[in-house]
Amino acid sequence: MAKKKYVVHTAVISGFFMAVSLFAYLLISHHMSMPDQVTQGRAVLLSNGQNAIERIKPVGNLFMELPAEVVVTNASISASTLPLDGAQVFNQSCAACHSSGIAGAPKLGDQVQWKTRLTKGTEVLYVNALNGISGSTGVMPAKGGNALLSDAEVKAAVDYIVDKAKTN
Ligand code: HEC
Repeated sequence: MAKKKYVVHTAVISGFFMAVSLFAYLLISHHMSMPDQVTQGRAVLLSNGQNAIERIKPVGNLFMELPAEVVVTNASISASTLPLDGAQVFNQSCAACHSSGIAGAPKLGDQVQWKTRLTKGTEVLYVNALNGISGSTGVMPAKGGNALLSDAEVKAAVDYIVDKAKTN
């Protein structure tokens, strides 16, 4: 009887030790491969700057284009609150070229000349009026060559031009 108990005890104890050493083996071998995974992960993460930009970019993108009715409201607000409204800016800084169509400038109110330009969208026209553009018909200087104009004033002048191109 005592012998049988001894055998059972021995089996249980050695089984327990086997389980523990198997667990230890699995645990250690699992962690042994960890540094590789970490290096790999870091390599992918740090591979180039493009990736970093991708990773840190904001979750949402800001959509800057305003619906047409908001743009119209903005134009009327800026006309009353800005030092110069669109028509004033135009007369002061844009008319030299755009009223008569000098040097390839599309003429104010000429629907035909403005038609293709309007299809670019007002945002593009803003950018080109602010930064200038050397296009197919001539050279448009940045802010019409008047660096003292604020961005809002130039945009108001573009709104004025766009408005005339549509209605005249
Ligand atoms: C020195 C002459 C000159 C002055 C001053 C000038 N422009 Fe122009 N503008 C041009 C020319 C030339 C073009 C055509 C460029 C091209 O070939 O696309 C042009 C084109 C434009 C366009 C159309 C751009 C496009 O993408 O098609 C806008 C909008 C514009 N001008 C706005 C203005 C505004 C607003 C002012 C005043 C703040 C102004 N311009 C003053 C010569 C001028």
